Amino acid sequence: MSHDNALTLLLDMLRSEREPCLWIADEHVAGIQKIPVNPVVEVISNRFDVADALSKQGWNSHFSDLDFNHIDDGSLSAVYFRLAKEKALVNHVINQAARILKTGGQLFISGEKQQGIKTYTKKAEQCLAGKAEIKKHANHYLASISRGQLPVTLLDDQSYPLLRSSLQYEGIDIFSKPGQFGWNKPDKGSVLLAQQFAAIQINNPGTILDLGCGYGLLSLAAHRQWPAAEITATDNNAAALISCQQNFNQQDISGDVIADNCAAAITKRHDLVLCNPPFHQGFAVENDLTEQFIATAFRLCNPAGCALFVVNAFIPLERIAKKYFKQQQLLGNDGRFKLFKLFN
Ligand SMILES: C[S@@+](CC[C@H](N)C(=O)[O-])C[C@H]1O[C@@H](n2cnc3c(N)ncnc32)[C@H](O)[C@@H]1O
Repeated sequence: MSHDNALTLLLDMLRSEREPCLWIADEHVAGIQKIPVNPVVEVISNRFDVADALSKQGWNSHFSDLDFNHIDDGSLSAVYFRLAKEKALVNHVINQAARILKTGGQLFISGEKQQGIKTYTKKAEQCLAGKAEIKKHANHYLASISRGQLPVTLLDDQSYPLLRSSLQYEGIDIFSKPGQFGWNKPDKGSVLLAQQFAAIQINNPGTILDLGCGYGLLSLAAHRQWPAAEITATDNNAAALISCQQNFNQQDISGDVIADNCAAAITKRHDLVLCNPPFHQGFAVENDLTEQFIATAFRLCNPAGCALFVVNAFIPLERIAKKYFKQQQLLGNDGRFKLFKLFN
């Protein structure tokens, strides 16, 4: 993963913290080798891989959908947060910081100008009823916002923690929530892939793996097409896993929803692997992610089975897939998305 300078600003400060405080660690931390442990810092991450890697290094780290309920009101002296992409998530963190910080405690946020650092700093200043300072370091910024004495003014976090019936696919009500990829509109690429299911020449799969399942759109479509199949869905994002589990329950899908980093702990092979792989990590585009997902699909696909992938047209899937699968068939290309069947 590329080095994130805005995160480094926070890490430098976290190292010298001496009072109980909270660090909200998200995908910007993914791939960082070793971060010196500071025992006064509690870490919360909505990414399984990040929470797991930090725990293994010795950090007091929890995986949750940014659930701060166990932290008492007015109990912390500092909260550290590298800005994330989604507005509802950022507003949720700022609202929660306003609740858990002591009067005079500080919220530290870092990020770049085009990522909205100045706007969020102003909004946090209003929310925390405090005073903000912002400093520029090359092209990134570090802001500190103090918690004032007056009551907080909550920002619109779109009721971040709430699961809701937020979209429909082929007449099915789908549950999802903020904090995950495309939570309130079905991904066009995934819909294109799902529409191919009926036409694809494959034997009825007994087992299906939905790799990077999100709220489970591909699983839901696969369940319609192959109702007897056992489906395993896996993702590393907490909001996605909560939503997907709810959709499995709601549609009575037989199978498991598993928190994991690109299915690293899964060993069972499946007749069919479905995947719309991620290519962003935070604000950056990460080409290695595509390869990681193709390699995993290859590892977890039965020798006589196949994997169905959808990717953005600019992703060189053909070249990468060649390293793993013997055969590939282009099932469609609408100029924006390419669909592939990969097999041996
Ligand atoms: C393009 S979205 C597709 C989501 C869903 N399959 C759909 O079609 O709507 C990619 C998914 O991969 C997940 N993801 C990203 N990095 C991951 C990782 N290292 N391990 C597991 N899942 C990951 C994201 O959380 C996201 O849900």
